[in-house]
Amino acid sequence: MFVNQNHLFVMSIQIKSLAEYQASYKKSVEDPEGFWAEIADHFTWIKKWDHVLHNDMVTPDIRWFEGAQLNITENCLDRHIADKGDQIALLWEPNEVTDQPRSFTYRQLLEEVCKCANALKALGVQKGDRVCFYMPMIPEVAIGILACARIGATHSVVFAGFSSNALADRIKDAQAKIVMCSDYNRRGPKTIPVKAVVDEALSLGCDSVSHVLVNQTTGGDIAWDADRDVWWHDLVDKQDTTCKPEAMDAEDPLFVLYTSGSTGKPKGVVHTTAGYMVYTCYTFLNVFQYQQGDVYWCTADVGWVTGHSYIIYGPLLAGATTLMFEGVPGYPDIGRFWQVIDKYKVNQFYTAPTALRALMAAGWDEPDKYDFGSIKVLGSVGEPINEEAWRWYDAKIGRGKAPIVDTWWQTENGGIMISSLPGITDTKPCFAAYPQPGVQPVILDQNGAVVHDNNVEGLLCIKYPWPGMIRTTYGDHERCRTTYFAPYKGYYFTGDAAKRDEDGRYRIIGRVDDVINVSGHRIGTAEVEDAINQHPEIVESAVIGFPHDIKGQGIYAFVKSTKEVTDPEGMKKEIFEMVTKHIGPIAKPDVIQFVAQLPKTRSGKIMRRILRKIAENQYDQIGDISTLINPESVEEIKLGAIHL
Ligand code: WTA
Repeated sequence: MFVNQNHLFVMSIQIKSLAEYQASYKKSVEDPEGFWAEIADHFTWIKKWDHVLHNDMVTPDIRWFEGAQLNITENCLDRHIADKGDQIALLWEPNEVTDQPRSFTYRQLLEEVCKCANALKALGVQKGDRVCFYMPMIPEVAIGILACARIGATHSVVFAGFSSNALADRIKDAQAKIVMCSDYNRRGPKTIPVKAVVDEALSLGCDSVSHVLVNQTTGGDIAWDADRDVWWHDLVDKQDTTCKPEAMDAEDPLFVLYTSGSTGKPKGVVHTTAGYMVYTCYTFLNVFQYQQGDVYWCTADVGWVTGHSYIIYGPLLAGATTLMFEGVPGYPDIGRFWQVIDKYKVNQFYTAPTALRALMAAGWDEPDKYDFGSIKVLGSVGEPINEEAWRWYDAKIGRGKAPIVDTWWQTENGGIMISSLPGITDTKPCFAAYPQPGVQPVILDQNGAVVHDNNVEGLLCIKYPWPGMIRTTYGDHERCRTTYFAPYKGYYFTGDAAKRDEDGRYRIIGRVDDVINVSGHRIGTAEVEDAINQHPEIVESAVIGFPHDIKGQGIYAFVKSTKEVTDPEGMKKEIFEMVTKHIGPIAKPDVIQFVAQLPKTRSGKIMRRILRKIAENQYDQIGDISTLINPESVEEIKLGAIHL
């Protein structure tokens, strides 16, 4: 008898009822190792583990499935070939409505990945080497990522909206050997010169890079270094379509992904192989309730963790059909997302509140023109979803019959941590709601004591390891410890504040550190200040987040110049250029206010709390200013404040 292995796999790890969720959750707390071992058992291993978990949340030294060997691409691709070699694994919708979509069956995707893996080997890439990606949303980015995993190279994907300086920083930090890019990138009506940015980054002293593998995406002139640059079509296309998967240890790194924190330069969050695999697949199957044959679409960019875990790894591990979209929500018109859902009969749709707010503002009734009969689950990620957007999403896209999963998690988490399960647990606007099995959230008060009751608010921490968690920050383990594990001993500190309601649902309030969430993108205020301060006429600056209707948070910069600013518009333009050069256009301030002085304490620290209240237009909450050395600065700044 023919047994559909994938069906069995899904059946055995997918939660189907409230009772099952409760039982799984209970077991995951009482016997975490037994719980995860049972789930992990359903994957393909070259060698099974010796120990399920080494638990040290202090140093930290977290190891899951130690002793095991595996290759994640065998689980993403090879294992599906017998059952569903001819099923579509990856669908691709181009930026231009008139261009041809592309699709890859599991068999085709495996072949493409093997070809690319062989090409990387031909370029000298070995297990453990880092490969940097600076690529648009084209199938080749997924192929390249999986090719790295196939041969045990560590991928480091950099969002293709970052500047050459930001790219260079990341290449240098990871000591990448290869950079993969495209010639250009189509984004809505724009064509962006991708390879030129890579060339510029490499001119900033990225000595570790031996080759640049260039995909011809649009055609068009680019500069070429014959010793270094290689065309994808020259090298990859002629490779063999098979490549033996490298046997990786459970804790071998799978990827590095740079993310912003409250201090210093972005850090490389390191995820390892086995735990990440088990966690992303498990959460994908549960949170989206993916069923055989469904078409799933996540609109994230592959340069962020959501793209890694829920466009590529999670769906492919589960044997799903995952849709990748090259374009942007509003091009060629504001109905583009809705048209894509209708065209592909998308069953699960996963996007960010900022996109919903922008589309809602531009065309409240626009979705009415489309058929959304296929939609079963709607997802939200990256920032708090406000109630108005939640209700619109529910009514206009879900037509009142598709549960919304508000998924809270972070780059450091690997996968979704807190979310309702659609059709299984309840949903409530603005609440991410319930922890996934294996996730033990706690709320701490200001002194770091656990608050046990419900109806409380405080700092969100996680008490016990979960398989998808961060292992280290690349090249600097101490930074990982001090950022996440030292603030509250024995806990992973998220940097977010949360509320727990009377029924135990979690609501995320937002960051408590100096990280701003602009359109779902994490931006460290220190990074923006550094960029602004590069301007020769600027003495210092303070960058603060403020509520923004579309972006969630906007960036407010208080800037002190060496002399009186006589041409504020010209100066603002120069500041924009500075920020665009050092980080990228996503970090451009929405508001720049020139100030004569910044409020400071006696020890010379900028009183950010006061600036935050001014930026948020909450003057009545400014509070005590008597500890400042220059209390008069507050009145001056209030007078010149700009509120959009
Ligand atoms: C925020 C994105 C409220 C939060 C996957 C977190 C959210 C940061 C939600 C991580 C949500 C993410 N509700 N806030 N559903 N999801 N956040 O690393 O502040 O890009 O700490 O990971 O986004 O952003 P990151």
